[in-house]
Formats: sequence, C-alpha cells, structure tokens
Amino acid sequence: MSILVTGGAGYIGSHTLIALIDAGYRCVVVDDLSNGSAEAVRRIEMLTGERIPFYQIDVADPLLLSKVFYDHLITGVIHFAGLKAVGESVEKPIDYYQVNLGTTLNLVRCMAEAGVFKLVFSSSATVYGSEAPVPYVEGYGRGITSNPYGTSKAMIEQVLEDVAKSESRWQISLLRYFNPIGAHSSGVIGEDPQGVPNNLMPFMAQVAVGRRAALQVFGGDYPTPDGTCRRDYLHVMDLAEGHVAALENNHHLGCDAINLGTGSPVSVLEMIHAFESVTNVQIPFTIVDKRAGDLPEFWADASKAKQLLGWQAKRSLEEMMIDTWNWQSKNPDGYR
Ligand code: UD1
Repeated sequence: MSILVTGGAGYIGSHTLIALIDAGYRCVVVDDLSNGSAEAVRRIEMLTGERIPFYQIDVADPLLLSKVFYDHLITGVIHFAGLKAVGESVEKPIDYYQVNLGTTLNLVRCMAEAGVFKLVFSSSATVYGSEAPVPYVEGYGRGITSNPYGTSKAMIEQVLEDVAKSESRWQISLLRYFNPIGAHSSGVIGEDPQGVPNNLMPFMAQVAVGRRAALQVFGGDYPTPDGTCRRDYLHVMDLAEGHVAALENNHHLGCDAINLGTGSPVSVLEMIHAFESVTNVQIPFTIVDKRAGDLPEFWADASKAKQLLGWQAKRSLEEMMIDTWNWQSKNPDGYR
C-alpha cells in the first residue's frame, strides 16, 4: 500500500516524502520535472534507504496516470504538482489555469476510477484574498484573489468541494499553506528555485552564499511595527508533517479546508536579523518600492489544524534559519 505524491520532486513534495517515510509509508512519485529535481528523490532514497518508484510523467495525461494506479496499490494521494510563481501567472494565465486545473481534474478522475478517495491538496493562504481580516480563519471562505496562480488554487478548492459532494466516500483536505521555509535538517534536500528566486527566504540564502549581491526589501512604510511586511513563516518539515496528519485524519468525510501556519507573524527585517544572528553572515539589503500585490501582513489562525489533526508547528524561527543555511551552504548551486 502506497501514497502517491504528485510533484514529489519539488520543494514541499520532497520534504513530505521524508515525513511519509518516517511515518512508515511507502511512496510513489509522479513529477514531470518542469520545476523539480530527480536528484532530490535520489537523495531521499539514499537518506532513508527506501526505494521510491518514480514516474516522469504529466499528471494531466489520463493514460499515463491511470497506469500508475494499475502498477501500485495506492491508498491515498498528496497533490502538489502545479505551477506556483505568482508573477509568471500574470504573464501566462492560460498555462496556469490549464496546468493547475488540468492536473487536478485528471487526478481526481483517475482516483475515482481506481477507487481511491483520500486526497490531500496543496492549497495556499492566498485563497483568502486581499480583504480578509487577520488572522485568517478557515470559516471566512475564499476572497478575491489577485493573480491567476491564487485564482487557480481557489478554483481547484471549489472543484474539489463539488467532487466531494458527488460521492460520499471522498475525504479531501485542502491544506492552506502560509510561508514554508527551511530544509530537512540533514541538509541533503532543500529549496532550489530555477532562475531568480521570487520568495524571500531562497533569495536571502542566495545572497548569503554569494550568488546574489544584495536583498531588496519590498516596502518600508507598511502599517506594521517596523514598516516591512509580516508573514507567517513555518518550517517545511512541520508543513510536511501536517500532510501526514491530514492523511491520517479519518474523522471527516467530504472536503475540509485547514490552515497550516504557526499563528504568528514575522517581518522582513526580523527575518534578516534572525538569519544574520544564526549564521553570522551579513545580508546587505536596501529598502525599495513595494512589490505590486503584496499585502501588509497576514498570518494563520492555526487552531483548526490542532483541533482536527492534532498538528501544530513545533520548529522555531531559529531552526528554520539554521536548516536553510545548512542546505544552502552545503549546496550553493542547489542540486546542480
Ligand atoms: C507569495 C504568494 C503566495 C505563494 C507564496 C509562495 C501572494 C500574495 N503571495 O507569498 O501565494 O504561495 O509566495 O510561492 O501572491 N520580499 C522582499 N524581498 C524579496 C522577496 C520577498 O522584501 O526579494 C518580501 C515580500 O514583500 C513579502 C515577504 O518578503 O512581504 C514574503 O514574500 P514571499 O516569500 O514572496 O511570499 P509571499 O509574497 O508572502
């Protein structure tokens, strides 16, 4: 009996493989490697001593995906595969809707045909939209999203809610991530974005390792305590363990949205100082104009995950910084 992990060669998918294997599961990975690395899966095999069947296929391909369900006795699916760059989604909305919706629709069709009804979906806090009060509570529902990436996540949530209503055996968890950072404590896997990183932590880590000259802090006059944006950063291994907890939650049928965050916000300047004090590496930075679409601050109400899944983030900001630096300094050019 195996768990199918789509997008298992990506950042969060690869860390979730370790959490699954640690919890005693066998895993099967499908990933088209458009933004993941086969090397990540190979390293996890080395680290855990487990063989992980790997299919380099498109999750939207009906024949190839259904073959995976014939080859293995799949009991649950964690679905990460999709496009995730906010800026790119504004340039290429058709790709984002086609890939993110197409993979999900084909996946749930293949699952139903194979009689597999347990699904954990990689959603995002971005579905709350720009008007929701903080902290974000699941009960607010989805708001008006500001880019096609976020809209595709909100649309998929809606699709999965409808799918769950159509057949009573579905157990679907929509996990709304806040800002995952860090790496497995071994330093053998971590975040390896292609090109210039869009997100704060990988950018800062590449400055620290000398790949980039300086960090630009987007905006210094937000209505926050130090004027920079605040986010709810959580350790990627805590996030990974949240997926295992969702998979093991047999209390609910239907479709449930659950926040995965720490419940406390940290500013960009606090992030820089935390990284510097843990690593003793200075991060040169300048405060520049705001980035279009950024919200001043948001963080999770994390109580539903605790109550429903018995999950809460347990790793500190310091550990997030130590593990990021451990990965980046051992692998200055990522998996290459
Ligand atoms: C964004 C997306 C979110 C997505 C997540 C991960 C939005 C509103 N948010 O989150 O949906 O799931 O990325 O891909 O679309 N910052 C800098 N300098 C940098 C980079 C970032 O100052 O070089 C600041 C940003 O202004 C922000 C904070 O750091 O305040 C975090 O940014 P980032 O890591 O990109 O995450 P979000 O924008 O929160």
